Amino acid sequence: MGNIFKKLGIGLVVGGALVVVGHSQELPVSFQVLFFIVALIGAIVFMLLDAKPIGTMSGGKSVFAVTAFWILLITVCIAGASLLPQFDPEDEKAKIGKLLDKERKQSAQGKAEELIARAKALDAQVKALEERLKGIGGGQAATATATPPAGDKPSAAAGGGSASGDVMKVGEEQWQLQECYNCHKLRGEGGKKRGPELDNIGSLLTVEEIQQKIEDPKSFMAEGYEKEWQKGIMPNKFKDLMDPKEMQALAAWLGTFKNASVNTPKPIKKN
Ligand code: HEC
Repeated sequence: MGNIFKKLGIGLVVGGALVVVGHSQELPVSFQVLFFIVALIGAIVFMLLDAKPIGTMSGGKSVFAVTAFWILLITVCIAGASLLPQFDPEDEKAKIGKLLDKERKQSAQGKAEELIARAKALDAQVKALEERLKGIGGGQAATATATPPAGDKPSAAAGGGSASGDVMKVGEEQWQLQECYNCHKLRGEGGKKRGPELDNIGSLLTVEEIQQKIEDPKSFMAEGYEKEWQKGIMPNKFKDLMDPKEMQALAAWLGTFKNASVNTPKPIKKN
């Protein structure tokens, strides 16, 4: 009797170990169950080796006994196997296919969006270059496009050819290139899609904070724009479309807008 328990114990331990290994290899559950059962069957076979031998048989009786034993064994095997959870490779394939499909769609869509954004930025860059070339050809045009309208002219831009002037120029260029004006009104222009007017943003945020907002639109939320912030209307793509210097320049340029007569909503720090 003690022997039976010992062998059963070994069978359980071996079976458990096989399940652990199978699980760690991410085998289907049906395989893990099968391993466990095979270990138990092994244990039972070893137990049977200890059983008392049955008496010798001969003639018709022995043929009957052997036949009956085989029928029993085959029935147990077939019935047992059909009770087990079945492994169907088609099932697994379908599952994997679904997962892959989802990922493929997502990445294809993401790529398309990114490419469209890049193409747009490039297009704007070409336009800006054309504008500049015109300027070189016709003198007058260059000064006309490079100078912001009098009155709202950011103070730091007044330097003209100075280093800070160049930064301001890059900043304003980025405002145009990235089409921030589509959503934001500034100097009375733009803002067809719903976004806050930014003429007083320099009084509400530091240059670093403005940069943070452009880099990660979720970092600040304009007061009263909860819905838009929640929906992520302001695109989270600018850090890919601008290099850090351009982004800094844009933030620095926006930081010079301190027109308190315009109602720029209060930015609320989010994360
Ligand atoms: C598709 C529309 C859209 C575009 C394009 C867009 N924004 Fe915004 N932006 C919003 C919306 C909507 C809000 C208000 C909700 C929020 O805070 O996210 C906002 C908020 C802001 C704020 C905070 C304003 C405040 O008062 O708190 C700043 C600063 C800002 N945007 C700068 C920019 C800059 C710079 C660009 C271009 C690089 C830009 N945005 C492009 C929609 C846009």
